[in-house]
Amino acid sequence: MIRAYTIASGKGGTGKTTVTANLGTALAQYGRETCIIDTDMGMANLGLVLGLTETPVTLHEVLAGKAPIQDAMYEGPYGLKVVPSGLSLQGFQNADPERLKDVMCDLTDRCDFLLLDAPAGIGADAVIPLTVADEVLLVVNPEISSLVDALKIKILTEMIGGTVGGAILNRVTPESIDMSRRKIEKALDVPIFDTIPEDADVRRAAAARTPVVVRSPGSESSKAFRRIAARIAGVPVGDEPEEVQEGFIERLARALFRREP
Ligand SMILES: Nc1ncnc2c1ncn2[C@@H]1O[C@H](COP(=O)(O)OP(=O)(O)OP(=O)(O)O)[C@@H](O)[C@H]1O
Ligand SMILES: [Mg+2]
Repeated sequence: MIRAYTIASGKGGTGKTTVTANLGTALAQYGRETCIIDTDMGMANLGLVLGLTETPVTLHEVLAGKAPIQDAMYEGPYGLKVVPSGLSLQGFQNADPERLKDVMCDLTDRCDFLLLDAPAGIGADAVIPLTVADEVLLVVNPEISSLVDALKIKILTEMIGGTVGGAILNRVTPESIDMSRRKIEKALDVPIFDTIPEDADVRRAAAARTPVVVRSPGSESSKAFRRIAARIAGVPVGDEPEEVQEGFIERLARALFRREP
């Protein structure tokens, strides 16, 4: 039985694509059949952040009725399935977001988890992913504009009959003290699943087009992504996936400084 989550925020740049790529990879590391879909069809970049450059068939063609979803699925890390969107504006115009639900039905027997990377804003292409998932997960930054926009998405989701299951507080810095986790949780009135720090390893991983959970598995952000994945997958807290391997930087650092894993 598939469980679908839409990763949304309202505000742009909060970390939706980063969360989708890393949470998806962490679920795959826990051995769960996971598919991530770029429903940000106008500003597609989920495929790009995972280093997928050759994607002749994308969600655009699937939602235009020109190809089955299987043809738009590409292999990511640890067997993660990735459905990118296309870069062409014409492809965006031809894609009908209303077909998304049917596409998801086609995946029912193929995956345990489905993560939809939502666009920013509240246009039609942003609203449909909120309605088709079992749960919406909000990605919030510790700043007032992000909180207000996340609250808007929560209200909108409930208005259209969807469910917000929780929030992920991303890009937390020592200075974000006056927007505490407790205050944000109270304002949103949903559980905050976890806190992800502002982390240079996330930026380095993005530049290397690799999820941080693969490139720097020992980083605080990677640990947070694995905790969220464990929670979603129903894995006991503290059980690290066997599949977690050291990234190149960790191997290098350990070789240089003889650190134990
Ligand atoms: N925890 C973090 N630490 C450092 N950088 C981060 C973190 N999370 C995200 N970023 C960086 O912030 C930028 C925006 O992230 P991302 O693209 O995931 O946001 P988004 O919500 O998907 O944006 P958009 O609304 O444009 O789709 C990226 O450069 C990403 O590498
Ligand atoms: Mg994005």
